[in-house]
Amino acid sequence: MSTKEFYELHQLNIELKRKTGFNPYYVNVQSGLNDSIIIDGKEFINLAANNYLGIANDIRIKEATINAINKYGLSLCATPIALGGTDLYKSLSQKLSDFVGLESSIIYPSCYQANNGLFPAIADKNDVIIIDQFSHSSLIEGARTVGCKIRPFLHNNLDSLEKNLKNSLKHKQVFVVTESVFSTEGSIAPFAEIVELCKIFDAIPVIDDSHGIGVIGKNGKGILEHSGIKDYQGIYTASLGKSIANSGGMISGKKTLIDYLKYYSPHLVYSTSIAPSILAGIEKAICIIEEEFEVLGNKMWKYRNKLRDALIEFGYGVRSSSAPITSIVTGPSVDTLLFAKELYNRNVLATPFIYPSVPENQGVIRLIAGANLEEKTIDRALHIFKEIKESQG
Ligand SMILES: Cc1ncc(COP(=O)(O)O)c(C=O)c1O
Repeated sequence: MSTKEFYELHQLNIELKRKTGFNPYYVNVQSGLNDSIIIDGKEFINLAANNYLGIANDIRIKEATINAINKYGLSLCATPIALGGTDLYKSLSQKLSDFVGLESSIIYPSCYQANNGLFPAIADKNDVIIIDQFSHSSLIEGARTVGCKIRPFLHNNLDSLEKNLKNSLKHKQVFVVTESVFSTEGSIAPFAEIVELCKIFDAIPVIDDSHGIGVIGKNGKGILEHSGIKDYQGIYTASLGKSIANSGGMISGKKTLIDYLKYYSPHLVYSTSIAPSILAGIEKAICIIEEEFEVLGNKMWKYRNKLRDALIEFGYGVRSSSAPITSIVTGPSVDTLLFAKELYNRNVLATPFIYPSVPENQGVIRLIAGANLEEKTIDRALHIFKEIKESQG
């Protein structure tokens, strides 16, 4: 291939933009996540962030972060294996383990890295990874790097999982991988039952709780609390950039395995350590969740119920959801973007999911109303949704 052909091949297909006159991605945000956000100088209602508990602009987290910058500077400028970690890392990894109820944890710069870096360290080509068909790209891509058999099971379908487990008996090790809250529509994995099946077939469960931690469970402690699972013997991962309102990704589980990953997970070992200031922010966020989950969580659920009920009343098709996520069914990519454009033109930011993020013609507009929003903002958003529906006849 010539250089010219290479660059021609590797450029965006702007067909959708041409058809819709709109590109909803990579907007230019000029403020923090307050009751409104500023995009290109204009105030928007933000229903696009995973700021479930609304603490992404919390003054206490900002102060903790700034104090840590003053003490530790901006970066350790080294990989964890080269320089080690700060005392903040040590105390936070213990705090995170205690929060989710597991023995030990490590913290990566992102959960994408954590999920990607997990499988090459724990699996080889003689194993099999059985994975929910709707799992996040980070899990699928991580599994692919192993070169082992990957068997998708039907979304949240225990019969399909069991069938796959029965077909996998001859493999050296079997892993069962899923998410807790599936963020496109808000379904929740029947994880207690999945763990039971894993016990029967001697498989290792791997759960990505990125949209569950700080969101589900009586005290916001995520999928293990939500499912009433005690003494979990599997592997747990979660993003710290959603309800925890910072960035980073954790892997938790048995101490022996976590100690092993510290040396054998390349995405941790060979990547500059997560900044100490971020660790301080995560630590403060966990403290706030421990103390204030009841109030913040109630607000988050109240907004979700209000949004969902009103949208159904206005005549929108809304996916059934068990999480504080409301997704409007929009179908084809063009229709999805056109609806997102209607919202954007009225200063509402929402997340359009189109192919290939979702199957062809199964586009949705996802709405997450964080607890940082005021109730009158939710009312204003609903008024706009009503107006759009009425304008469509
Ligand atoms: C289910 C799931 N897992 C992992 C990730 C990646 O997390 P991070 O943003 O921390 O890299 C995401 C983020 O989009 C996610 O939704």
